[in-house]
Amino acid sequence: MSKKILIAYGTRYGATREAAEAMREALGARGSEVNVVDLKQTMPANLSGYDGIIIGSSIQAGQWMGEVKTFLIQNQQLWTAKKLAVYVSSSTAITDAASATDTYITKELDKLGITPAAARAFPGVIDLSPKSRHGWLKKTILSLIAKQQAKSSDGRLKLGEINDFRDWNAIKQFAIDFLSTL
Ligand SMILES: Cc1cc2nc3c(=O)[nH]c(=O)nc-3n(C[C@H](O)[C@H](O)[C@H](O)COP(=O)(O)O)c2cc1C
Repeated sequence: MSKKILIAYGTRYGATREAAEAMREALGARGSEVNVVDLKQTMPANLSGYDGIIIGSSIQAGQWMGEVKTFLIQNQQLWTAKKLAVYVSSSTAITDAASATDTYITKELDKLGITPAAARAFPGVIDLSPKSRHGWLKKTILSLIAKQQAKSSDGRLKLGEINDFRDWNAIKQFAIDFLSTL
């Protein structure tokens, strides 16, 4: 039977939205009815019709996007009954996805008493190009992150470039695996 799935995300620069769109494509190709919602624009009011919900967030300075946290808290009573998968787009996940999943998802959701059916930190995008939209403060933070990670990423992180570490197959497979649990 066709499943109805909500993918609700919060993004700062678009990587988390593009992951949501890739998941929509993968789930749609398998006959699911998928709604994708940017939580900054819309807070879905009625979640009762969904068989499963996927929530995604960008990580900025160790934090989830505020609108994603609000959505989780507003519907806190629902998450014990509803099938929930959670992903984040992160730079830490480039070098250590397990630790990023633990730090940014498991520990954060523990604080809210939420145990998702699936959780994954995906390597995201680090824009170190001269054309990046980051102001000087963010550029400074990012170059610090970059310097730290360049050591452990075998030089894969390039200064002066857009570093896109997204693994589209893994992103789609995450959604497909979740679908198979519904
Ligand atoms: C100012 C800034 C701070 C960031 N801080 C973190 C961080 O603390 N931990 C992390 O894993 N990634 C961090 N990142 C990396 C982002 O999470 C990554 O670029 C992600 O793909 C962005 O997703 P978005 O395009 O949906 O906003 C940071 C990025 C920026 C620009």
